[in-house]
Amino acid sequence: MTKAKIIGTGSCLPPKVVTNDDLAKLVETSDAWIRERTGILERRVSDAATATSDLALAATEKALKAAKTDPAEIELVIVCTTTPDMLFPSVGCILQDKLKMVNAAAFDLSAACSGFNFGLSTAASFIETGKCKKALLVGADTLTKYLDWTDRGTCILFGDGAGAVILGSAEKEEGVLASLIMSEGHLGSVLTMPGGGSRDPEQKNGRFIRMNGREVFKFAVRVLESSVRKVLEMAGKAPSDIDLLVPHQANIRIIDHVSKKMGLPKEKVYVNLQKYGNTSAASVPIALDEALAEGRIKSGDLIVLSGFGAGLTYGANLIKW
Ligand code: ACO
Repeated sequence: MTKAKIIGTGSCLPPKVVTNDDLAKLVETSDAWIRERTGILERRVSDAATATSDLALAATEKALKAAKTDPAEIELVIVCTTTPDMLFPSVGCILQDKLKMVNAAAFDLSAACSGFNFGLSTAASFIETGKCKKALLVGADTLTKYLDWTDRGTCILFGDGAGAVILGSAEKEEGVLASLIMSEGHLGSVLTMPGGGSRDPEQKNGRFIRMNGREVFKFAVRVLESSVRKVLEMAGKAPSDIDLLVPHQANIRIIDHVSKKMGLPKEKVYVNLQKYGNTSAASVPIALDEALAEGRIKSGDLIVLSGFGAGLTYGANLIKW
């Protein structure tokens, strides 16, 4: 059966850097606390004039160039985001228009920090079933626009960014070998952005992220390990076969805990959260793009991408590069 294969990547981060010391001027926190409890040293914050589609566009242009792909060849555009420019049109349609991807169906996918893994599973299915030959998949978010800068439990964690990949088809046993996506809606209340939807269009409940950090932490540790193990099992592989794990970049303690339990040495786990914090749906494709640029991935390597987030949701994809 045809497999879906990543043939180009790109990413974009807004230029403004906000350090932990900058945040210590806003809330009762310190650089030492944030480093120790999260591993984050700084994050990027977009300015008022920059919307999610602006970052997505810059990341997509780089990915198209890397994949040597003309926009007209793209038949499917999926933008994974929970911070679209507006309720509609979708960021996918905005990108389609700006890049003249005239032969594509375009839509947004909402699975928060799991978005890219949900999107990869979806886009891969389109390619595997022959519904399209080339797809654009973007993870892009500007969560800093929805942070309560007086809440030290959330404002220290997040940053903005976008990552994009172009998917093509592979005839041999390579590309996305196995894919797992799952939701646990009964845990939805531990991570919410209640204002602004149809239940509260006037945002009487506020327009900010609300999170029970400890509960999200427990969930993340559980599902990160189980989903990586499951996706490996689906392809008859073991943790020792992994060449690089690219996990959602939320908290170094979550990543270290799971890596240790799975017997993965540090050099087999990609981490860049110290520079960007949690960029939500963008975190995995940005990490993938940087891992490639740093030469951490070579042809034939077995890569696992994984994510977890609001919903609550989680997902993992096993890729032979
Ligand atoms: N600076 C200083 N002290 C703080 C801060 C801060 N920024 N934040 C919390 N504290 C305090 C708390 O008030 C608490 O004090 P107390 O003991 O006097 O009550 C103490 O530190 C410990 O608080 P915890 O919440 O237990 O701290 P924890 O070690 O769990 O770290 C954190 C908090 C970093 C939020 C952690 O729970 C975490 O990373 N959770 C997962 C978050 C996550 O991954 N979210 C993903 C979102 S994905 C998406 O879809 C958007």
